[in-house]
Amino acid sequence: MKPVDTSFCLAHLLVCVNQRHKSALPSCASGDAEAIYQKLRGWIEAHGMLSRIWITRTECLGWCHVDGGTVAIYPQNIWVRAMTLDDCDALIEEHLQPLLSHGRPRKP
Ligand code: FES
Repeated sequence: MKPVDTSFCLAHLLVCVNQRHKSALPSCASGDAEAIYQKLRGWIEAHGMLSRIWITRTECLGWCHVDGGTVAIYPQNIWVRAMTLDDCDALIEEHLQPLLSHGRPRKP
């Protein structure tokens, strides 16, 4: 086992794209989940920050029982639920744009 150096990571976005089968509970994939992932990833990539702002598709993050569309950002510990594609610009402006001031991309 070897520890991973995450010192260059400014944030790690977890975007739920879970599709629940055989359940009455809603799933994020029933909403805009994949489009949200693609839009956020596209923004990060367009700014050349994929090595410093990580983004990962996940399974259920546990908030779909309320209203789905769930994104978590660490280490900031920001959680957003009921998110739609239209909310991406606000999330970017509020939580991702400020990270750009921390510097340019760095090779891992
Ligand atoms: S299916 Fe996305 S939070 Fe549960």
